[in-house]
Amino acid sequence: MSGATAYDSLLISPIGTTIVGNKIVAFDEIDSTNSYALEHGGDGTVFVADRQTAGRGRLGRTWHSAPGLGLWFTVALAGSPEGLSFAAALAVRDALAPRAKLKVKWPNDLLCQGKKICGILVEHRSGRTALGIGINVHHRAEDFPTELRAKAGSLESELGGTWDRAEVLRAVLKELDRSIMLIRGGGLAEIHRAWAQACALEGRHIRCNGVEGRVREIDHHGALVVEASDGVHAIFSGDLEYLDGN
Ligand code: BTN
Repeated sequence: MSGATAYDSLLISPIGTTIVGNKIVAFDEIDSTNSYALEHGGDGTVFVADRQTAGRGRLGRTWHSAPGLGLWFTVALAGSPEGLSFAAALAVRDALAPRAKLKVKWPNDLLCQGKKICGILVEHRSGRTALGIGINVHHRAEDFPTELRAKAGSLESELGGTWDRAEVLRAVLKELDRSIMLIRGGGLAEIHRAWAQACALEGRHIRCNGVEGRVREIDHHGALVVEASDGVHAIFSGDLEYLDGN
C-alpha cells in the first residue's frame, strides 16, 4: 500500500486540522482514490496516490493520473454534506493564492492562465461522501494526452518554479478543513455567496448543455440560472462555454 511516497513529510508532521487529514493514507498506485474512499470511508481521512489506474472525472470521463505528475487525492466524509464542490474549489484557489492566481470556472474547475489545472469530483454512496481533487502539478504539455493539450495545464507548465506536492496538499487540506468546519457550523450560505462572486457569471452570455443565453444568477443550490429564448433554465452540471470572451 504505502512504501516511501512523495507525501511522507505529511505522515510525519501533523497538519493541525480539526477534521480533514486527521488520518492520511498514501498509495503508490490505486485504481481511484474516490473508489477507495467510498469503500472504506473514515470521516476526514485523506487518501492520496502517486498514480491512479482508473481515475474518474466528471460526466463519466477518465481523469489522466500519471505517476509523479500530479496531486490525486480524496477526502472521505461522513454523510452527504451540501456545497462541497464549491467549498473545495474555493479552498484550492485560496491555498494556492500566495503563488498562483487561479480562476474558478462553474461548475467546479480551476484555471491557470486559461488552462484547467484542477478538477473536483464529489460522489456519494451508502451514507459516505468522497471529495476527490486532482491538481496537475509537474506536467509539461507533452505529458497530457494529445486531445487535452489545448485545454489542460499544470502549475509548473503555467507558472514555472518548483512545486512540492506534499506542501500543496498540506495547504489545500488546511483550507478545506476551514470550509468543511464552516459548512458543518451552518455557514453554507457564505460558501454559496463566495462561490457566486468568484464565478463572476451574472449577465454573461454562455452556452451549457445546449442552452444558450444570459446568466441571471448562480442560485443557492449552486445551479446556473440562464435566461434563454425559450425560458429560464436551472443547470446543475455541464461544460460551460463563454460566448462573450474568456
Ligand atoms: C473533473 O472531471 O474535472 C474532476 C476530476 C477529479 C479527479 C480526482 S483525482 C482524485 C480523485 N479520484 C478520482 O478518481 N477522481 C478524483
